[in-house]
Amino acid sequence: MKWTTSMSLLTVIALSCFPTRGYGADARDVPIVSPEAVADYVYAVVESHRAFYTTHVVQPLEEQGVAKAGAEWSTQKNTIPLPVQVINETSQKFSAKFNGLRYQLISQWPINVKNAPRDQIDKSSLESLSMRPERPTSRIIKMEDQTYFRAIYPDIAVSQACVSCHNSHPNSPKRDFQVGDIMGGLIIEFPVESR
Ligand code: HEC
Repeated sequence: MKWTTSMSLLTVIALSCFPTRGYGADARDVPIVSPEAVADYVYAVVESHRAFYTTHVVQPLEEQGVAKAGAEWSTQKNTIPLPVQVINETSQKFSAKFNGLRYQLISQWPINVKNAPRDQIDKSSLESLSMRPERPTSRIIKMEDQTYFRAIYPDIAVSQACVSCHNSHPNSPKRDFQVGDIMGGLIIEFPVESR
């Protein structure tokens, strides 16, 4: 697999996120949205769904003793999916339909090895996030003749629940997370094409 990265490519890359087919518009009239803006939109949607699910579904059900969140939700009674599973599993459904858009939570200290960085680019992006968490890290990458835009946003321990669960999980390689720490990153990746 051949990987190339180049931020300068960003200037000549236009995202085909507004399909002209079916909208009755000429391709020249369709406004171009930067890949950074598209990633920000996707991030806003994914994060707000996750926050809503965590705060208004997981938390109250656990507090009322009705159900708890757990990785084995599909086979265990009274167990609902972990917030991370809502993200990773909906992304799988999504990428099957929308050829290429995917999002995933990853970490340098994953409870589940499937959520470890996929490659050197993910690793170095997570490292730069820890030094500069205000903005996502983004790259243009090439995989098997297709060009992708990949952004990684910091995933922050926003509540004590994040920290307590990860620090006490038997498979967690890190046990000293504190509220406010960056626990990993949310990858948002989609294909782009040159004009
Ligand atoms: C009830 C326990 C629990 C809570 C609460 C929880 N997590 Fe997790 N988290 C897990 C488990 C278990 C996994 C691994 C799931 C899997 O099998 O993919 C995980 C996965 C992750 C991952 C992907 C890397 C990894 O460890 O596998 C990140 C990043 C993450 N969680 C961040 C957070 C953040 C931030 C919060 C709070 C907003 C949070 N988690 C709340 C249990 C929890």
